[in-house]
Amino acid sequence: MTRREFNVALLGGAVSASVFPLGAARRPKPPLRVNGDRLNAQLASIGRFGANPQGGVTRLGYSDEDRQARLAVAAWMREAGLEPATDFAGNLIGRRPGSDPALKPLVVGSHVDSVPEGGNFDGNVGVLAAIELVRTLGEHGVALRHPIEVAVWANEEGGLHGSRAVSGQLEAPELAHVVAAGKTVAEGIAFLGGDPDRLHEVRRSPGDIAGYLELHIEQGGVLEAEGTTIGIVEGIVGIRWWDVTVTGFANHAGTTPMDRRQDALLAAARFIDMVHRVVTSTPGRQVGTVGRLEAVPGAPNVVAGSVVCSLELRDLDEATIVRLFGRIADEARRIGEATGTRFAFEPLHVNVPAPSDPRMRAVIGEAATALGLTSRPMPSGAGHDAQALAQVGPMGMIFIPSIGGISHSPREYSRPDDIVHGANVLLGAVLAADAAL
Ligand code: HGY
Ligand code: MN
Ligand code: MN
Repeated sequence: MTRREFNVALLGGAVSASVFPLGAARRPKPPLRVNGDRLNAQLASIGRFGANPQGGVTRLGYSDEDRQARLAVAAWMREAGLEPATDFAGNLIGRRPGSDPALKPLVVGSHVDSVPEGGNFDGNVGVLAAIELVRTLGEHGVALRHPIEVAVWANEEGGLHGSRAVSGQLEAPELAHVVAAGKTVAEGIAFLGGDPDRLHEVRRSPGDIAGYLELHIEQGGVLEAEGTTIGIVEGIVGIRWWDVTVTGFANHAGTTPMDRRQDALLAAARFIDMVHRVVTSTPGRQVGTVGRLEAVPGAPNVVAGSVVCSLELRDLDEATIVRLFGRIADEARRIGEATGTRFAFEPLHVNVPAPSDPRMRAVIGEAATALGLTSRPMPSGAGHDAQALAQVGPMGMIFIPSIGGISHSPREYSRPDDIVHGANVLLGAVLAADAAL
């Protein structure tokens, strides 16, 4: 499908939106509630795109499955009374007008792409709840003062590419990086119907949005363990990724004596262990991960000549990440000297840490209380599009429990009731933010 065909397909579906008369708007008695059965049915339905044998999904950002899921989501947007369009960064944005043309939009969203062998809840819950809440507003004849935009951000799992384009943090060199789906970021953006040459046109500045809200699964086990239903996110960790290339010398595994080797895989093994040691050597919640590794040429009878692996560091404090990386780079140099290899670090992307906005935390807490739900403030150790949007407007995030604290796995699961609770809190928070902002 060409970009043009994709956009035609996106715009061409049947419109069955419930059109609501803005002039006849009234506020129903709170709390309004979404149609939970419809929401959970759509969540099950989106799981067919990239369904994997383990019971989860593999729907890599910019893949065929990602694009197919977006077409289904665009149709659901239309049914909800949203007008969908793909922006130049490949974000799918559904818009519903507000009653006050002077106001900036309230943006609500998440993502539908997944990690390899991921689950069907990470991202999807937030997108489908956002659509469901708009549909609910339409069915109850509720007009918002602000326009509302439901966003499906592009390639969240690959590094928040769509949302960081909007916040102006997606830099040109990153467009050439090859992502998990095997395309460059630029190719992926075009594949979704965007235009990588016009990214500057999607950029928004502080004040261009009234606010941003995102519902997401917790991806950790705190809420379930405590029996709390709603997490009110206080802040989102910063994340940095590097490609680490270890260069040694490929040679015969039978004839090269052990003391004459420049074994890149041995150096990489020491590197992985060192990362763990450095990250755990000081108190704090910082985490460091080497999650991908490829040895070249990759044969049992060849000493590895080179290794490319990933390095990821996370913390709520950017300075901690920078300090940890400094120590890791120093120690890598020493490992290189000891093994006859060389380490090179290529920075891939930076997600800056983001505190949530106190007004958004308040509306989320009040919405939970009005629904009789328990809630608690908590940090997010996972990255989210919300941290990019926090650069351009007040941001709030709602968490619901992840069973067993499992995520980025086909065994990821959140209870249907909790999904509905989360969507109702999102709805209540949107109504309160619409009145307050
Ligand atoms: O990697 C993350 O933290 C997020 O789930 N994308
Ligand atoms: Mn994720
Ligand atoms: Mn996510």
